[in-house]
Amino acid sequence: MHTLDMFRLDGRVAVVTGGAGLYGRPICRALAEAGATVVIASRDAAACQAAADGLACEGMSAVGMSLDLGDEASIRALVDRVVGDFGRIDILVNNAVTRHGMADLDKLTREGWEEAQRINATGLMLITQAVVAGMLAQGSGNIINIGSIQGAVGPHFPVYGSTGMTSPLNYTYDKWAMVGFTKWVANRYGREGIRCNCISPGGYGPGVAERIGENEFTENYRGLTPLGRFCGEDDIKGAMVYLASNASAYVTGHNLMVDGGWTSW
Ligand SMILES: NC(=O)c1ccc[n+]([C@@H]2O[C@H](COP(=O)([O-])OP(=O)(O)OC[C@H]3O[C@@H](n4cnc5c(N)ncnc54)[C@H](OP(=O)(O)O)[C@@H]3O)[C@@H](O)[C@H]2O)c1
Repeated sequence: MHTLDMFRLDGRVAVVTGGAGLYGRPICRALAEAGATVVIASRDAAACQAAADGLACEGMSAVGMSLDLGDEASIRALVDRVVGDFGRIDILVNNAVTRHGMADLDKLTREGWEEAQRINATGLMLITQAVVAGMLAQGSGNIINIGSIQGAVGPHFPVYGSTGMTSPLNYTYDKWAMVGFTKWVANRYGREGIRCNCISPGGYGPGVAERIGENEFTENYRGLTPLGRFCGEDDIKGAMVYLASNASAYVTGHNLMVDGGWTSW
C-alpha cells in the first residue's frame, strides 16, 4: 500500500468521548479529516452536536451524541445507537476526563476520590468493555486512550511556583492506571484483531491565557519543555491518525508521548 494511503480512515467509525473539549476537538478533526465518521460524545450533547456541525460544514462526517460515563445505561445506549446508526465501531478514543473531586492528598475527601474514579476508572472500563464486545464480534478494532505527561512521570510541583496551582493526586493515579489499562487490553485482545495504544500529551496551549492567565506556571512550563512551548492545536493530530490507522498496524500496547520533550529528561 502507498505510504500515505495507510493513514486514511475512510469508512471507519470512530467514537471520541469528551470530543467537544480542549483536546477532543483536534482529535475529532484529525479523525474526520482522515476520512472517518466521527461520533462526538459527552454529557453536553448540544456542544457535541455543535462541534460535529462545524466539521460537517466543511464536508466531513460527524455527529454529536449524549454520553454520561458515570451512568452505565447511558454508555450502553451510546454504543447501541452508534452500532444501530453506523453498523460498527472501529475506533474508540477514551479522551473524556473528570477533574471533579480531585485535590492534593491533604484535601482529598473519600467522596471526591470515589466521584473521580466513577468516571475516570469505572466509566473507562465500562465503555471499553461495551465497545470491545462489538470489536470481538467483528474481529477488529482500535482503542486509543488519552493519558498525560502526569501518567509517565510524577508531577513537577515547582513548575507551579507561587500560583497556588497544583496537580492532584487522583489525576496522576488515573493517568498512570490508564497506561496499565492500555497494555492489558493490548495484550489480551491482540490476537482478536484489536489494538490498544495510549497518547500522552503535555499541557494544551491554545487559549491558555484566557483559561489560567499568563503567570509563573506558564513561564516555568515553557522553560522546562525542551521545545519551549505548550502543545499546539495541530500537535496531537498526527499521532492520533497514526495510531488510529493502518500506518501503525504493528503497534500495540504503546504509550506515545506528545509532550514537546517534557518527559525526555
Ligand atoms: N488539557 C491539558 O492540558 C491536558 C494535558 C494532558 C492530557 N490531557 C488529557 O486530555 C484529555 C482531554 O482533556 P481536556 O483538557 O481536553 O479536557 P476538557 O476540555 O476538560 O474536556 C473534558 C471532556 O470530558 C467530558 N466529560 C467529563 N465528564 C464526563 C462524563 N461523565 N461523561 C462523558 N464525558 C465527560 C466533558 O464533556 P461534558 O462536560 O459535556 O460531559 C469534556 O468534553 C484528558 O484525558 C486529559 O487527561 C489534557
